[in-house]
Amino acid sequence: MRVLAVESSCDETAAAVADGRRLLSSVVSSQVTLHAPYGGVVPEIAARHHLGRISEVVERALSEAHTDLDAIEGLAVTCGPGLVGCLLVGVNFVRALALARRLPVVGVNHLEGHIASGWLETPLLPFPALALVVSGGHTALWRVRAFGEYRQLARTRDDAAGEAFDKAAKMMGLPYPGGPAIDRLASQGDPRAFAFGEVRIKGEAAFSFSGYKTAVREHMRRAGIEPLPHPEAEPPQAMVDLVASLRHAVVRELLRRARQALLADRPRSLVLAGGVAANRLLREEITRLADEHGLALAIPPLRYCGDNAAMIARAGIEALEAGVNHLDRLDAFASLPLGGPEAERSSRRHR
Ligand code: KG4
Ligand code: ZN
Repeated sequence: MRVLAVESSCDETAAAVADGRRLLSSVVSSQVTLHAPYGGVVPEIAARHHLGRISEVVERALSEAHTDLDAIEGLAVTCGPGLVGCLLVGVNFVRALALARRLPVVGVNHLEGHIASGWLETPLLPFPALALVVSGGHTALWRVRAFGEYRQLARTRDDAAGEAFDKAAKMMGLPYPGGPAIDRLASQGDPRAFAFGEVRIKGEAAFSFSGYKTAVREHMRRAGIEPLPHPEAEPPQAMVDLVASLRHAVVRELLRRARQALLADRPRSLVLAGGVAANRLLREEITRLADEHGLALAIPPLRYCGDNAAMIARAGIEALEAGVNHLDRLDAFASLPLGGPEAERSSRRHR
C-alpha cells in the first residue's frame, strides 16, 4: 500500500511517502532558525509557518518519491501529543485530502512514531523491544511487544532530557537548540569536573531532570561562570567542563533506568529514538549496554532521530493495512497517552 504521511506537531513540517514498509522519500522543513531568537518554540509562529510550508513539503515528498497523489492509497498524520495549533495544520490538510480523494486515514501518536523509527532501517529488529524515547518534550521507556502494543515502564515526572540540555544551554548563553551545542562542546571538557548527584525518586520507576537546571545554576555561581555575551563567543574552559559534566550526568541517568528496565523486562532488542538520540555519548553508552546484554540494537540515522514523517508512515502502515480508518474521529490532541489501559480509556473518550 502506498502511503503519504505528514508530521507537524512541533517545529518541523514533514512529509514522507512509503510503499508498505519501504520508504520512498522523507522531506523535513525545520523552523529551528525561526525560533532561535526566542530560545524556544513559539507556538503561534510555528503554526503559521506550518500552514505556509505544508503544501510545498508534501509536493516535494511526492516528487522525490517519483509519484503523485493519484498513486497514494492511504494517509497517516500525527494527531498528538504536541502543540494543538501545529497539529491541526497537518490534521486538517490530511483530512481534506482524505475527503477529496476518498482515502483511508490514520491518526498516529507522535511517540509511537519515534518508537517505530527504530524499524525504519532495521526491519527485522526482534520483539519484544525496549525503547528509550528521548526528545525535547518526552523522556520515557517503553516495552514494545509488537507494533501497536506498548507499555510504559518509566517516564519523566518533570522536564524531558532534551529540555534539561536546552535550559542549561540557555542559562550559559550557548546557541539554540542547546542539545547539539552541548554535545559538540562536551567532547572537549572534563566530565568529572563538576558533580551532579544521582536522581532519587522513591518507589517509582521514573526519570526526573528538573534538578539539573538548579545544579547548573549553582555550579555557575560557585565557579564564577558568566553566561556568554553572545552565542558565538568562545566559552571558557570551566564552562566546557560544566557542559561535559552535565552531558555525562544526563546520559548516566538515562542508562541507569534503561539497565534497570532491561534486567526486569528481558527484551530481545533495544531502540534509542527521539531528538536526543543524536547525542554521541548516549549512542556510545547504549551500544555498550546492548553489547553487554547480547541484545539487538537500533539507533536510527540522525535524519530519523529528530521529528520527521518517515516514522509516522512506518507507524501508520500497520493500521492502514489492517483496514483501520479514523476519518470520522480524526482530531488534534495536546496530550495523547500511548499504550496500557489508560490509553484505551482515553482514546475511547476522544472518539
Ligand atoms: O525529537 P525532537 O526533534 O523534537 C521533540 O519532539 O522534542 O527533539 C529535539 C530535542 C531538543 O531538546 C534538542 O536539544 C535535542 O533533541 N537534541 C540533542 C542533540 N540533538 C538534538 N540533545 C543532545 N545531544 C544532541 N546531539
Ligand atoms: Zn519528537
